Amino acid sequence: MAGKKQLNHIAIIMDGNGRWAERENVERVEGHRAGAKALKRTVEAAMDLGIKYLTVYAFSTENWKRSPKEVNALMSLLRDFVDNDLAEIDEKGIRINVIGRIEQIPWITRRKLQKAIRATKNNTAGTLTLALSYGGRAEVIDATKKIAEDVAAKKIKASAIDESLFQNYLYDPELPDPELLIRTSGELRTSNFLLWQLSYSEFYFTDVLWPDFDKNELGKAVEFYNSRERRFGGR
Ligand code: FPP
Repeated sequence: MAGKKQLNHIAIIMDGNGRWAERENVERVEGHRAGAKALKRTVEAAMDLGIKYLTVYAFSTENWKRSPKEVNALMSLLRDFVDNDLAEIDEKGIRINVIGRIEQIPWITRRKLQKAIRATKNNTAGTLTLALSYGGRAEVIDATKKIAEDVAAKKIKASAIDESLFQNYLYDPELPDPELLIRTSGELRTSNFLLWQLSYSEFYFTDVLWPDFDKNELGKAVEFYNSRERRFGGR
C-alpha cells in the first residue's frame, strides 16, 4: 500500500517488574529476574517477526535513586544477561548496542557490555539496543554540549545546526527512529525515553506486566501498528 511504513524498529518501556513481584509475593529482585527472561523471549520473538531493531529501557537516569540493593541487583542481572545469553544472541546474528551515560555504569558491568558490543558488531540479523543510565533529556543535553564545543572550536557553524546535524550528536546517530513504542503495565507516559526519536512513533499501551510479556503480546502490538498503518498509510 502506498505510504505504508514497514515496522522496522520497536522501542519498549519494560514496566511492571515490581508489581509482578508483589502479585507473586516475591522480592522485587525476582520481578527484575523474570523481566530479564521476558526480554530474552521478546528479542527472539521480534527477530522471528523480522523486526530489525529493538530498543529497550533497561535502566533510566532516574533509576539510580532506587535502593542500592535494587540497583546492584539490576547491574548483576545485566552481567548475567551478557554472561549467559550472549552466545545465543550472537548465534542468532543479533548485534548488541548500548545508549546512555554508560560511563556511569559500574566498570565490571561496563567491561562485559563492551565485550558483547565488540563480539557482535558484525552481526546483521538485528540490533538489540539497551538504554542504560539513559534519559531523553540527558541525551539532548549531552548532544547540545558536544555541538557547543564544536561550534566553539570552529568545527561547525551555529547556522549549520539543523535536525540532521543534531541527529549526528545523539548517542547512536545510526539508530533509526522507532515506528512503534510499547509500554507495559498500564502507565500512559513516555518517562523520558527517546524524546527526540519518538516524535512520529505510534504508541501502544498494555496492562500486561513486563514479566508476563511474550510472543503473543508482541503479536498484539504489531497487529495494532499494522491496523493503524492500514488506516493512515494511504494518505
Ligand atoms: C520497571 O519495573 C523496570 C525496570 C526499572 C528495569 C527493567 C529491567 C529489566 C526488564 C531486567 C533487567 C534487564 C536486563 C537487560 C538484563 P519497575 O520496577 O518500575 O516496576 P513497578 O513500576 O511495577 O515497580
